[in-house]
Amino acid sequence: MLILSLLRRLSSAVIYWHGSWVIYSYDATAQGDGKLDAAVQTYDAEHLPVGVVKQALQERYGRFEYKLRLREMLRHGGKCLVLMDQGKVASFGWIRGWKPFRRRYGWLARDAFLLSSYWTMPDFRGKGLYGRLLAHTIAVARKADNVPIFIWTDPENHASQRGIEKAGFKCLGVFEVRQAFFRLINTYRKIRTSPQEACVQSSANGPDPSFEQNE
Ligand SMILES: CC(C)(COP(=O)(O)OP(=O)(O)OC[C@H]1O[C@@H](n2cnc3c(N)ncnc32)[C@H](O)[C@@H]1OP(=O)(O)O)[C@@H](O)C(=O)NCCC(=O)NCCS
Repeated sequence: MLILSLLRRLSSAVIYWHGSWVIYSYDATAQGDGKLDAAVQTYDAEHLPVGVVKQALQERYGRFEYKLRLREMLRHGGKCLVLMDQGKVASFGWIRGWKPFRRRYGWLARDAFLLSSYWTMPDFRGKGLYGRLLAHTIAVARKADNVPIFIWTDPENHASQRGIEKAGFKCLGVFEVRQAFFRLINTYRKIRTSPQEACVQSSANGPDPSFEQNE
């Protein structure tokens, strides 16, 4: 498991990686400050997760991935937000510093926060916790700095898209992002204006001229 995870990371770091994402942005100056929620606990480099929170995160990611998450939080800033319900971890998500994503997504912004890896425990789904956690996250990210906030999700993840759109994020489109050769070649292409729009046929043969080279 650990070896597979290492190999996967190595191959996507060194050889080739691609993904398609619905990318959303939140403009706090235009769209509001979010809403702090008393049930949400915030963890960062000074307050690392302990007890049931640490256990829930380790179960979700595995020990190795969890350690990498903490390392990223220590090196690049960021926070882990955990919504508690009667002493149980109900939902969580991350605010991540932009530096590790800048090479791949620098065309979006020079500096930003990325909201990622939101997860509601299966027993707590469908109760609006995702929306509460996103509203709290916006309030925390907005307080921390005045930089754009991005979140992206799989084009097939309708639950996530619904929650993100309800929280007030603006859809920038569906993008295909590619990275190759030691992360030196970075390209992106908008393939749809929204996840609801019908798929555009993408070129299967050779490089696509509509791909834009990242800086
Ligand atoms: C996506 C996820 C975080 C949503 O959590 P949640 O706390 O259940 O979400 P909410 O209760 O706030 O629901 C959000 C909206 O999505 C809708 N929704 C839920 N499941 C849905 C589905 N399968 N298809 C379409 N919409 C769906 C809900 O009805 C709600 O909209 P509504 O208020 O208009 O009814 C949760 O399903 C999850 O953990 N999924 C696995 C991990 C994941 O996909 N994370 C997102 C990565 S960015």
